[in-house]
Amino acid sequence: MRSYDKAHLLITGGAGYIGSHACIEFLNAGYDIVVIDNLCNSSQESLNRVQKITNKSLKFVYGDICDVKILKKIFSEYNFEAVIHFAGLKAVGQSVNKPIEYFNNNIIGTIHLLQVMQESNVKKIVFSSSATVYGKPEKLPIKETFPRSATNPYGRTKLIIEDMLKDICVDKLWHVALLRYFNPVGAHSSGLIGEDPRDIPNNLLPYVSQVALGKLKRLSVYGNDYPTIDGTGVRDYIHVVDLVKAHVKALEYLNAGNAGIHAWNLGVGKGYSVLQVVDAFERLNKIKVPYEITARRKGDVAECYADPTKANNELIWQTEKTLEDMMVDSWRWQVNNPTGYS
Ligand code: NAD
Ligand code: UFG
Repeated sequence: MRSYDKAHLLITGGAGYIGSHACIEFLNAGYDIVVIDNLCNSSQESLNRVQKITNKSLKFVYGDICDVKILKKIFSEYNFEAVIHFAGLKAVGQSVNKPIEYFNNNIIGTIHLLQVMQESNVKKIVFSSSATVYGKPEKLPIKETFPRSATNPYGRTKLIIEDMLKDICVDKLWHVALLRYFNPVGAHSSGLIGEDPRDIPNNLLPYVSQVALGKLKRLSVYGNDYPTIDGTGVRDYIHVVDLVKAHVKALEYLNAGNAGIHAWNLGVGKGYSVLQVVDAFERLNKIKVPYEITARRKGDVAECYADPTKANNELIWQTEKTLEDMMVDSWRWQVNNPTGYS
C-alpha cells in the first residue's frame, strides 16, 4: 500500500543549483514533487527557500541515488509519474583526478535509478546532459546531430548515460529527454536561491561574482589568443530560469505520448566572450572586477554555442532573459548571500 497515491515527480539532485530552480518551475506548474539529494554539493536551505518563493511545499528525502534500498523505499511509497534527473558530480577538473568517483556516482547511480524505475514501471525521465558531449565541435552553431565524444571523465559519464538511455528505449514504453545544457548562469530574481560553489569556483560567473565581492583577488582570464572577437573564449550563456522552464516543456512533450529518446540543445544560440561578460557585469552592477590575462586552461575550446532551433520548435520554448538579466541576477544572489546558504 502506497503512502501517497497522487502522482508525484521525483527530482534527483533537486537541492542543487539547477535542481532548486527547477523545483520552483515544477511547483508553479502544479506538480507535486519529491526531492532526493545527498547534499554532497548543496544545502537543504535551498529547498526551504524554494518553498518560501512558491508558497508551496515539497517533500525532501536525504539520500543517495547509489543506494538501491532507499530508492526502492521511496518508489514503493510514492506513485511517481516521471523522474527529473539532476543528481551528479559536475566538476570537469576534479573528474580528471577522481575518474572512478565520477563513474561510480554518475553512472552507477543512474543505473540503480533506472533499475528501480523499471521495476516500478516508471518509464519517463528527463536527464541533465551537457554540451560537453560534443567534445571539440568542428562547426558552429552546434546541432543535436553533431558527432559526440568525451574529452574528460565527467563528459564520458554524460556520454555513457546518454547511450544507456538510448539502449533502454528498445522497450517502447520508455520516454526519455536528453537536455544538453550550454552554460547555465544567473539566479532566481528573488535573490533567494543561486549557485553556491563549495570550494573556489571553476566556472566564470561564480568566480567573477566572488572577485566583485572581494572574496577573491582577481579573475584569471584563461587566454586572449583564441580566434574569437577579442581573443578570449566564447560561450553560450543561458539564464538558469530559462533553462529550467525547458524541463517543464520537455516533460509535457513526453507526456504528450512522444515515446523513445529525444535530445535538445538548451542554449540561447549566441556566444559572448569572457571580456564581454566581465564588461557587462561591471557596467550593469557598477562594480569593478579586476582581472589578468593568463595562459589558456587545458581542455578549453575557443568557441561553443548552440543551435537551439530543435528545442524552440519541438518544445515551443524560447529563452527570454538577456545577458543583462544574467549579470544582474548573479550579482543580486551573491550580494544578498555573501557566504551562500551557510
Ligand atoms: P549541483 O552540484 O549544484 O547539483 C547537483 C546535485 O546533485 C547536488 O545537490 C548534489 O548534492 C546532488 N548529488 C550529487 N550526487 C548525488 C547522489 N549520488 N545522490 C543524490 N544526490 C546527489 O550541480 P548543477 O549545476 O545544479 O547541475 C545539475 C546537473 O546538470 C548535473 O547533472 C550536471 O552535470 C548537469 N550540468 C550542469 C551544468 C552547469 O554548468 N551547471 C552544465 C551541464 C550539465
Ligand atoms: N574562464 C576564465 N576564467 C575563469 C573561469 C572561466 O577565463 O576563472 C573562461 C573559460 O576559459 C571559458 C569561459 O570562461 O572560456 C567559460 O568557462 P566555464 O568554466 O564557466 O564553462 P565551460 O564552458 O568551460 O564549461 C561548462 C560547464 C561544463 C561543461 C562545459 C561544456 O562548466 O560542465 O560547459 O558544456 F562540460
